[in-house]
Amino acid sequence: MTDETTAAEHPAIEVNGVPADAAPRPGQCLRTFLREQGALGVKKGCDAGDCGACTVHVDGVPVHSCIYPAMRAEGRAVTTIEGLASACPGHGPGPGEGLHPCPGPGEGLHPMQGRFLDAQGFQCGFCTAGMVMTAATFDDAQLADLPRNLKGNLCRCTGYAAIERAVLGSADATASAPPVPGAVGEDLPAPAGRRIVTGAERYTLDVTDAEVPGGAAALVHLKLVRSPHAHARIRSIDAAPALAVPGVLAVLTHEDAPDVLYSTAQHELETDDPADTRLFDTTVRFVGQRVAAVVGETVAAAEAGVRAVVVDYEVLPAVFTAGGALAPGAPLVHGDKDAAASGIADPARNTVAELHSEVGDVEAGLAGADVVYENTFRTQRVQHVALETHCAIAWTEGDPRDGGALVVRSSTQVPFLVQRSLARLLGLARERVRVVTGRVGGGFGGKQEVLTEDVAALAALRLGRPVQLELTRAEQFQATTTRHPFEIRVRAGARRDGTLTALALDVVTDTGAYGNHGPGVMFHGCNESVSVYRCANKRIDARAVYTHTVPAGAFRGYGLSQTVFAVESAIDELAAGIGMDPLQFRRRTMVRRGDPMIASHAEPEEDVLYGSYGLDQCVDLVTKALRRGRARETRELGPDWLVGEGTALSMIDTVPPRGHHAHSRIAVLADGRVALDVGTAEFGNGTSTVHVQLAATALAGLGVAAADIILRNADTALTDHDTGAFGSTGTVVAGKATLAAAEELARRIRAFAAEARLPLPAHDGGLVAIAAEATRRGVVLEAEGRWGGTPRSVAFNVHGFRVAVHRGTGELQILQSVQAADAGVVVNPRQCRGQVEGGIAQALGAALWENVRIDGTGRVTTDILRQYHVPTFADVPRSEVYFAQTADALGPLGAKSMSESPFNPVAPALANALRAATGIRFTELPLTRDRIYLALREAGRALPARPDRVTA
Ligand code: FES
Repeated sequence: MTDETTAAEHPAIEVNGVPADAAPRPGQCLRTFLREQGALGVKKGCDAGDCGACTVHVDGVPVHSCIYPAMRAEGRAVTTIEGLASACPGHGPGPGEGLHPCPGPGEGLHPMQGRFLDAQGFQCGFCTAGMVMTAATFDDAQLADLPRNLKGNLCRCTGYAAIERAVLGSADATASAPPVPGAVGEDLPAPAGRRIVTGAERYTLDVTDAEVPGGAAALVHLKLVRSPHAHARIRSIDAAPALAVPGVLAVLTHEDAPDVLYSTAQHELETDDPADTRLFDTTVRFVGQRVAAVVGETVAAAEAGVRAVVVDYEVLPAVFTAGGALAPGAPLVHGDKDAAASGIADPARNTVAELHSEVGDVEAGLAGADVVYENTFRTQRVQHVALETHCAIAWTEGDPRDGGALVVRSSTQVPFLVQRSLARLLGLARERVRVVTGRVGGGFGGKQEVLTEDVAALAALRLGRPVQLELTRAEQFQATTTRHPFEIRVRAGARRDGTLTALALDVVTDTGAYGNHGPGVMFHGCNESVSVYRCANKRIDARAVYTHTVPAGAFRGYGLSQTVFAVESAIDELAAGIGMDPLQFRRRTMVRRGDPMIASHAEPEEDVLYGSYGLDQCVDLVTKALRRGRARETRELGPDWLVGEGTALSMIDTVPPRGHHAHSRIAVLADGRVALDVGTAEFGNGTSTVHVQLAATALAGLGVAAADIILRNADTALTDHDTGAFGSTGTVVAGKATLAAAEELARRIRAFAAEARLPLPAHDGGLVAIAAEATRRGVVLEAEGRWGGTPRSVAFNVHGFRVAVHRGTGELQILQSVQAADAGVVVNPRQCRGQVEGGIAQALGAALWENVRIDGTGRVTTDILRQYHVPTFADVPRSEVYFAQTADALGPLGAKSMSESPFNPVAPALANALRAATGIRFTELPLTRDRIYLALREAGRALPARPDRVTA
C-alpha cells in the first residue's frame, strides 16, 4: 500500500485548521485523540456521553467527543475550544449572535466565550469549554429553549443560573462599584476567567511536556484492581498473568505497600478521624475497594493488566445497613482493630463514634408541652459528582530520601494535608514532598481525602517514572465517598405560646466501610441544627456506624443538611400543632444575638461568637419575597394541582473547630506589580477572586489595581502550612491571612516611601517608582500573614418554596424558590450569589432525585451519570437570592462564609411546602415523583387512576 493510498483511506483530521500530526488508533475516541494533539481544553467528565465536558465541533456540528470514534473524524474539520474564536465565521454576525455581535478577531474570543466571560458563567470551569462549544452553535430558536438544548451539558457548580445569563448575554452586575476598583463589594471577574473560557486554564491532568520530567509522553498509567466482594480476606494475588501483558510495567499489592493504618480523610488534627485504612489491605470491606495497582505504558495496557490479575478471596459475611450493623451478632467491619490505637469508639459494635448528652430535662420538657411531635427521618447516599474525577500525577526529582523530592500534582482541596499524609505514609521527610494543584474541577468536600495520591506516589517511587492515575466516573461512584445516610428520630414539644419545651435527636449515621469523616460529620450534624433554637431541654444520642458499603465522607454541609431536614420538619409540625405560622414560630424560638448557642452540652463552644447576626433579616427577606411572589402569581394550575408554601432555616459555624491554619505571603515585584501567594486551593469556590479583592482593598491608595495582583495558590513550595479549602474557610480563614499580609505590606510601602521621600502613587500602576527605588536600594517590600481559625462566627440561611403537586402523577413544580443568606459583608456579590445558586441546585438534586443505590451484594448500581440524576439545566428553577446587611466583627473586612450553608435548608423547606400542599409529612429523601404519588394515594388525595393506565 502506498502512502497515497493510505492518505486517501485515512485523510488527516483537521484540528482547529491544522492537519493532525498523527492518525487515530483503532478504537480511540475523539476526545483522547484531541488531548494527545494538545487540545487540553477538551475535558473528560464521564466517558459515556452524559456530561458534555468534551463537546467539540465536527464540521461545525457539536458532538460529545468521548463517544465519537476518532476515525470517523478523518477528513473532517474538528474545532475545539482552543480554535473556536478563529472558527467564528468571518467574525461577523452568525447563528445566535443577534444579542451579542462577534467582537472580531482583535478580541480573540468567540461571542459565546465573550458572554461567558462577561457573565462569569462558571465556578470551577471544568464544564465551561463544553458549554461554550454547545451554545456557540445555537440559533435564535435554540436560544429560546435552553432547557431542551443544554440537556447534554452538565454543570455541578453553578445551578445553571449564571450559565443562562451567559448564554443569553444578559450579564448583570449585582454590586455598585466601590471607591477602589477591585475592592471588596465589587463583582470583580475571576482572574482565571479568560483562560477558562478559552480552554487555556490548566486542570490537574492538563500537563505539558515542560511540567513533567521527560515530557508528557513519559507518563505511565496506573489502574486499580478492585474487590468484587463486600467483605473478604485475600488469600493470594497472582500478578504473573498481568506482568505478561505487553506494556505492563509493574503490579503493586499489599506486599509492596507500607503496613501503616491511616485515614483517607484530611483534617488539621489527624486524630479527628480513625486510623482504619491501609494503602492496600489483606481484608476488603466494600465492593470496589483497592486490591492491587497495575502500571502500564498506556491506559489500555494497565486496564488489560487489571483484568489479568488473579485474586483468591475468602468471602466473609457482610452487613449493608446501619441498623443491621448495630444488631447483636452482626458481622464486624473492623473487629480486628484496637479501639485505643485506631481511635474507633467500639470496634466490637461497629461504632466509630458516639455522642450522648443532655441539657435540662427532655422528658420533663415533653411532659410540659401542649403539643409533642415524634417521627423518624431518613436521608440517602448522595455523590459529589465533581465534574473532574479524582486524579493525580506523581513523579520524583532525584531521590526523595537523599536530597531529592517526590512531587504530586493532585486534584485536592488540601495540598498541605496531603503532603503531610504522604510523608508519614511513605516514610519521607515532609519537606521532601511537594504537593501542587492545577485548577481543581470541583470538590464539594469530596477532595478532602487522599484517594489517588498515595498509590500514584508509591508507584512513582517504585518505578522512577511519572505515574498518572485518573479515576473513571464509575470508580467515582463505586469507590470514592458519598454523603452520609442518616436516620434521625426526633422528639420535640412546644407550648401554645410558641415556647419550644424539648428537642431530642436520636441519630444513626452510616459511615460505610471506613470512618473517614465519620465522627466529624456526626458531631457537626448534631450541633448547629439544634443550637440554633432556644430551648431549655435538649438531648442528643448519636452513633456513627460502620457497614460493608462504599465509604461516606465530607460533603457540603458536613452532616447538617441531614439533621436540618429532620429538625426543620419537626418545627413545622409543632407550629401546625399549636396553630402558629411556621415562620412566626421560628422567630419566637430561634437564637437571638447574645443567646448562648447550645446543642446539648451545658456550656456552649467558647470560641463560637456572634461576629454578626442576620438571621432575623433572613427570615424577613424570605417572608417578603414569598409574599411578593404570591401577589404576582398569575398561573392558573387548575384543580388537579395542590399548592403550598414551606420554609426552613439553618445556622453554620463559619470555621471548623480545633484550629484551621492559613498562611499568605505578598511582595512588591520590581515592575510595580504585586505577587500574592496563598496556601488555600481554588476549586470553584471563588477564593482566588476574594483574595485579590481583599489585597486590593488593603493596598488602596498605593497605586495597586486588582489586575496588578498576581495570585498563586495551593502549592506546598510557596507558603507555610495551610489546612486547606474545606469547612467554608477560603474566605474567612485564608482571607484573614491574606488581609493581614496585605495590610502589613501597605504599612511597609508607606514607611519606605516616607523614608525615600517618594510621593504615594496617585493612580493604578503607580507603584512602579517605589518598586524601582526599593530594587535600587536592595530593599525587599514583602509581608506575610497568618490566621488560626479562631474565634469563629456563625452564618445563617433561610429558604422558602412555593410548590404545586399534581394529584394524578405526583409531579412537583417549584413555583417560587427564594433564599436569604447572612454572609456578612459580601466581598463579591455576583460570585457569592453563584455559590448560593449552586448550593441550592445541588440540594435540590439531593432532595428530589439523587440516590446512590446499593444492591443486595453491596455493589453500587447507579455508577453512570444517566442512572444517577444530577440536575440538568431543565431541572433547576431560578432562585431569588437575597443577602442580609451585616458586617462580621471576626471575618476579613466583615465577611462570613457562604459556600456550604446554602445547601442545608433546601430539603426541609421543600418538604414543608409539600406538607402544606398535600397535608402529608414526607420523612424520607429523595422526594421522588413516585414517592409523592404513592403517599397521595395512601392518603386518599390522589386522583383516581386513569382506566387507560391500569395494568393487570
Ligand atoms: Fe460547571 Fe464547575 S463550573 S462543573
